[in-house]
Amino acid sequence: MNLLSSKDLSAATIKEIFKLSDKLKDDAKPLAKASPILALLFEKSSTRTRVSFESAMIQLGGHPVYIDTKTSQMSRGESLADTARVLSSYVDIIAARMYRDSDLDELAGHSSVPVINALTDLEHPCQALSDVYTIREEFGKVKGLKIAFVGDIAANTANSLMVTAAKMGARVSLVGPRGYEPNMDYVLYASRYETIETTDNLRDGLAGCDVVYTDTFISMGQESDAEKRRKLFAKYQLNEDVMGFANKGAKVMHCLPAHRGEEITSELLDGKRSIVWQQARNKMVVEKAIILYLLNERR
Ligand code: CP
Ligand code: NVA
Repeated sequence: MNLLSSKDLSAATIKEIFKLSDKLKDDAKPLAKASPILALLFEKSSTRTRVSFESAMIQLGGHPVYIDTKTSQMSRGESLADTARVLSSYVDIIAARMYRDSDLDELAGHSSVPVINALTDLEHPCQALSDVYTIREEFGKVKGLKIAFVGDIAANTANSLMVTAAKMGARVSLVGPRGYEPNMDYVLYASRYETIETTDNLRDGLAGCDVVYTDTFISMGQESDAEKRRKLFAKYQLNEDVMGFANKGAKVMHCLPAHRGEEITSELLDGKRSIVWQQARNKMVVEKAIILYLLNERR
């Protein structure tokens, strides 16, 4: 089994991963299989996902091996298929951060061990799982809540969050400028589970929301469009005034890295409404649960 897309996980599986995460929070028991190896094959930059997966694997009694594709033979033209065949004969599980989703599919298609999506252009499923886990921890439930995603509503994080949150019973409000529409494939898919609304109006979009989430306006790979995006997205910055449109006790989330003063103010990020640091911390425990789940050590 792989975790390539948030669509791969049923609501029952998400709940199982959350239960495993609960157990792992107070008990970092090592894996039953002695010293399994996790390869982290990364094309894009990372701080959190790389270090949390590496630390998770070490705490579980395994070993991580980090491979920057720029210094691997992939940079000299070795195919993904050949890389996958060889890597999976050395390691027990692979987490890959790629640009194209089709490349991740190709890697998984030729791997004999489970492959985890550690972020692609279209998705960030591990992030969405730990984000919804954080919401569950903060509110004691997910069902019935309303989550707003503000800014680049076509981002990988928006796609995965809307699918995972909707499967767990939360409504999602996508709030961003015209011209940068959400990915309709994800909107239609998530709408099978819960209501997904889209608007360019902050007041309407945040009304009744319990959680307000944002991400960078310029994702990795979109640097050539940066100036245009900065201008167009500027009015979607999360700040104290904008939070006035949401519910009184609404919480603020951001997957990080944050661009302080751009998509979010420091005041908000470091303020009382922010659950951003708890959200970052939870990545590691949920990644541990994902590793256990995929290695079939569900306990
Ligand atoms: N949130 C997240 O994936 O951060 P990194 O890019 O630092 O891994
Ligand atoms: N949308 C961002 C997420 C970073 C964790 C990006 O892809 O760069």
